[in-house]
Amino acid sequence: MKPQAVKGTRDILPDEQAAWQAIITAAETTFGRAGVAKLTPPIFENSEIFTKSVGDSSDLVVQHEMYSFSDRGGRSLTLRPEFTAGVLRAFIEHGFHTKASPVKLWSHGPAFRAENVQRGRYRQFHQINCELLGLDNPLLDAEAIALLITFLQTCGLSDLTVRLGTVGDPGDRAAYNHYLRERLEPRREQLSPTSRERLERNPLRILDSKDPHDQELLKELKRPLDFLNAAAARHFEAVQRYLRDWDIPYLVDPSLVRGLDYYRRTAFEVHHRGIGAQSALGGGGRYDGLVASLGGPPTPGIGWAAGIERLLDATRQEGSLEVPSPGPQLYLVPLDEQAVAEVARLAHRLRRRYHVEYAYQPRKVGRGISDADRRRARYAGLRGSRERARNSYQLKRLASGEQREVAELELGDFLADA
Ligand code: HAM
Repeated sequence: MKPQAVKGTRDILPDEQAAWQAIITAAETTFGRAGVAKLTPPIFENSEIFTKSVGDSSDLVVQHEMYSFSDRGGRSLTLRPEFTAGVLRAFIEHGFHTKASPVKLWSHGPAFRAENVQRGRYRQFHQINCELLGLDNPLLDAEAIALLITFLQTCGLSDLTVRLGTVGDPGDRAAYNHYLRERLEPRREQLSPTSRERLERNPLRILDSKDPHDQELLKELKRPLDFLNAAAARHFEAVQRYLRDWDIPYLVDPSLVRGLDYYRRTAFEVHHRGIGAQSALGGGGRYDGLVASLGGPPTPGIGWAAGIERLLDATRQEGSLEVPSPGPQLYLVPLDEQAVAEVARLAHRLRRRYHVEYAYQPRKVGRGISDADRRRARYAGLRGSRERARNSYQLKRLASGEQREVAELELGDFLADA
């Protein structure tokens, strides 16, 4: 049997690398312009970093979605299912709270969740992650959302919908959970099995149910927005004022709940219509209290993550990502045996400054030019006995077919100007 990648994981093939790099470059540009510094945490952490942060009622814990294992010393380690916990662990470990607030950090790389695989939902996927720490000012919430939108626009996307919600403070949430339990307990048998379980652990998550019967039962009921304390309501209003002021369109989604338990107050997601049921390109929210629960000094914060696979899917739907051509500037074609060593030597010299490739065997003119074309080269450089006698190359510009002879010693200057 042919070997195969593990279900829910995939290779990023050579042809896809330029598009991936374009996404990373868009992130570097967006964050660079906003003074967000890069931090690269390890891919695995002590398991308790994640179990303490994501919450007992998150799918990651309830549905055993974390990849955990014991190392040789018997310690429990976990492949990161997300970045936030690791970034906050690093923030605490390196005493970043002593730096001027806000501390703004971004990261990217793979994350791992043992989920049911479908379009847009994989077991190894990749995130661009952003965390803004140290201020409870609603200005930071608006800045986080604006950064996500700017990043997605820099990737060339325009068909974006921002859904904005709030899950309130812990007291509001407890009151809302109490309310949902009171209303839904008598109708428990009518709920879907997942929602029945959520009724025990975290009734708020029932709002997330895709089951039409659940949604019917929820129709008459109040939303977390109706349970906000006065300060949380003012905070939510202020975030919206900033977004309006910056011309960032958004929809208030009174039912927005997130899959992780650490959120307080602001929660948001950005969706794209073209990528199927898993339509969230990115999402995040405020998590005041999380740094303290990991053993750090009380520090408010807000952040988000976007999934690179979903983003690439969306850019394919919109045909919007600008990817620089990966082809060589010059593709050298030896027309006889002796020319093979000559083009190889020239290529190694020119590669100090230019992207140059060559054929490893003698080629006929037509075949050599079509090889160059297939590699998306700008120029084909032909070398045969006639060129050897004049120590030159015949250069053919592939886009126009235009041809000229250039002395070997002048090729470097020619490519610099080409
Ligand atoms: P999340 O909503 O779990 O949030 O994930 C953020 C994004 O990662 C999703 O919108 C999606 O694009 C992508 N994603 C998540 N799971 C998968 C998967 N199985 N396959 C493909 N893509 C996926 C978080 O991870 C939070 N840590 C975000 C955050 C940062 N909140 C505060 N700071």
